Amino acid sequence: MTALRDTLQGALVLAPMTKGSNLPYRRLCQELGARITMSEMTVARRLKQNRRSEFALIRRFPDERFFAVQLAGNNPDEMAWAAELVASRGADLVDVNLGCPIDYFTRRGLGAALAREPRRVRRIVEAMKKAVAVPVTVKIRLGWNDEHLNYLDVARAAVDGGADAITVHGRTRAARYKTSANWTAITEVAAALPAPVVGNGDLLFGHEVRDRLASSGCTAVMSARGTLIKPWLFREALEGDLDLSAEDRVALYRRYVELAKEHWGDDEHGLARIREFLLWHLGFWCRYAPPRADGTFPVMQQRETWTPRSPLEALLARADEPAHAFLADRLLTADAIEPADAPPPSAAREIDDDAAEAG
Ligand SMILES: Cc1cc2nc3c(=O)[nH]c(=O)nc-3n(C[C@H](O)[C@H](O)[C@H](O)COP(=O)(O)O)c2cc1C
Repeated sequence: MTALRDTLQGALVLAPMTKGSNLPYRRLCQELGARITMSEMTVARRLKQNRRSEFALIRRFPDERFFAVQLAGNNPDEMAWAAELVASRGADLVDVNLGCPIDYFTRRGLGAALAREPRRVRRIVEAMKKAVAVPVTVKIRLGWNDEHLNYLDVARAAVDGGADAITVHGRTRAARYKTSANWTAITEVAAALPAPVVGNGDLLFGHEVRDRLASSGCTAVMSARGTLIKPWLFREALEGDLDLSAEDRVALYRRYVELAKEHWGDDEHGLARIREFLLWHLGFWCRYAPPRADGTFPVMQQRETWTPRSPLEALLARADEPAHAFLADRLLTADAIEPADAPPPSAAREIDDDAAEAG
């Protein structure tokens, strides 16, 4: 078996994302260069309850290169059982969610709440390591809030339990997306641990991926929102920054629809499901902003004001509901997208990353 460090070396990893890491989107990202993909958070207890919707999340597509499954749970036996289950269904790696900020889960002691208990984290990882031969990793934040930064403690506890790698999202639970990711802290973890570290936060351009890989000491880096806004970020990481034309972007969105039809079917039920996912994805796709004319770059944490270069680009940049409904319908049917036919704008749907993360 290849050591996990070799698999991770220099990679841009597709982050686990509720809704965003759907199977066809992972396929699209793989076609664009992703070589490590991850499921969205899957609740171990719900697998135990045999819930079909949860089983759908752990399904691997046949040629998925390296598929990690992320589990949420806080009981060592249950997590060991779930790890065994997902490994038997083709997962190449099992990750433990220690960062989910959502009240519903933290009140039940999962996600970011579990990360407040490093000793329990250690026991969970130990139990999972005993249960499976595939690597076991954890994904942490910096802590609950700025007064409780325990990232080194929890990362070390996980490694003591046998974790094969640690992903660090460089924000606290309280910060949600309000602050920029703290790459100084991520660098500190990479220097402190014997295990490979995957750094995560705010990567939006290929050059940022390469710069962070070079300067942080991380074995790999991970992107979530950057890959939702630009699924071609994987290609950028390999080949250099790309400023795709509106037509090229539409071609990628149409490819997503093809893959989605293969997955969900193109009967009435499948198309309704795909439309729902398209509307969701359009909320991120409209955030694309090209490199600036002066050679500098938009940054993840600020909304860029820029002038679209064509009517189609202007339509793709619209963040309002009528525009998204129009685009979703055109993408679904393969009809040409005529910007002149688009409905007038209504108030923009303000895209709130915190709400998106909640799924
Ligand atoms: C829509 C959405 C859903 C997410 N769902 C999960 C999840 O299921 N598990 C998880 O560990 N993190 C989840 N996250 C957090 C991301 O994996 C990542 O840690 C965070 O967004 C920071 O990376 P970024 O700055 O590249 O967006 C989610 C993020 C987003 C935007």
